[in-house]
Amino acid sequence: MVAEEPSEVRATAPGRVNLIGDHTDHTGGLVLPMAIDLATVVEGRRGGDAVVVTSEDRAGRAVIGLDGAIVDGSPGWSCYVAGVVAEVAPPTGLDATVRTTLPLGGGLSSSAALEVAVALALGGPDDPVELARLCRRAEQRATGVPCGIMDQLASAAGVEGHALLIDCTDETVEPVSMPSAIEVVVVDSGQARELVGSPYAERVAACRSAEAAIGPLRRADPSDLAAIDDPTIRRRARHVVTENARVRAAVEALRAGDLAEVGRLVDASHESLRHDFEVSTPELDDLVARLRRHPGVLGARLTGAGFGGCVVALARPGALTGWAPERSWTVTPARGAHRVTGLG
Ligand code: GLA
Repeated sequence: MVAEEPSEVRATAPGRVNLIGDHTDHTGGLVLPMAIDLATVVEGRRGGDAVVVTSEDRAGRAVIGLDGAIVDGSPGWSCYVAGVVAEVAPPTGLDATVRTTLPLGGGLSSSAALEVAVALALGGPDDPVELARLCRRAEQRATGVPCGIMDQLASAAGVEGHALLIDCTDETVEPVSMPSAIEVVVVDSGQARELVGSPYAERVAACRSAEAAIGPLRRADPSDLAAIDDPTIRRRARHVVTENARVRAAVEALRAGDLAEVGRLVDASHESLRHDFEVSTPELDDLVARLRRHPGVLGARLTGAGFGGCVVALARPGALTGWAPERSWTVTPARGAHRVTGLG
C-alpha cells in the first residue's frame, strides 16, 4: 500500500442554539436550531499512525489509535475524538490542535462541534447529512446517550443568516431566514448539565412506550393521546406532539414577520418542557421568568436537553445588552462546518 502524503488541514465546526423544538428529534420530529458564530477549529497535519489532538483551551492531549482505542492518560473529552475515529476509520492519523470560542459543556453543543470538526479533519464526508449521521453515531458511542441528530446536523448544515427547519424523519434541512428585528441571546444558568447519567435516556424510552401504543409521535395528533393509559407517558407524548406543531407554527410566524407570535410559541415550548416533559429545573424556570419580565424580550425558554445548561431569549435588538454579560452570548446564525486542506 502506498502511504498517503501528509497534508495540512483546518476544519471549523460551529456550535448551535435551538430556537424551538426540543426533545422531538429522537422521535423523528421537527426542530428549529441555528448554527452560531462560536465555533471549534481543529488544525494540523494528516499522517502517522495515531490521531493526536492537543487542546489549547484545557489541559491535555487526546491520543487515539486508528482503531479508535484511547491511549492511557488521555483526558475525558478524548471519548468524543475516539468515537469519531472509530466511525471514520481513517487510513492515516492526524496531529492537530483544537481551540474553541464555545463555552465547554454549556449547552451550545461544544461536543457536537468537536465531533464534526474532528470528522472533517480526518477526511469524513462532505455531505452535511452524512457527516451528521456519522457524528451522531460517534456521540452515542462516546457517551451511551441515545441522542437525536439535531446538534450534529445543525453544526454540519448551518446557513449564515438562517435558522434550520430540520425534519428528523427524512433528515431534510430547510433554511429559514432570521429577521433582523430578532436578536438571539443565550444565557447560561450556571447549573451544570451532563447528559450521561441524566434522565435523557429515560425520556427517550417513555417516547418509545408512547409510540408502541399509538404509532409514530411524528404522525400523531392530540386526539390520539387519549389511547395512552399511563398518565406520565401520555404527558411526555403530549409534549412531543404539541412541540412539533409549535415548530411548524414558529416557522410560519417567522416567515410572516409575526414576532409576537414567535415569542408566544417560544414561551409555550418552555411550559411544555417544564410541565409535560419535566426536563426543566427551578434555576432554569427562574432565569426564564426574569428574562420574560425584561422589556423587549419576545420569549424565553430552556434550550437543548434541559436538566440545567442554557436558556435562549428572543429579543428586540439591544434589549438585553449588558444583561449578565459574564454568562450570556448574543449569537448570530452562522455558516456550517467546513474544511480547508493544503494550507500554506
Ligand atoms: C440534546 C441531544 C439532542 C436533542 C436535545 C433535546 O442536545 O443531543 O439530540 O435531543 O438534547 O432537544
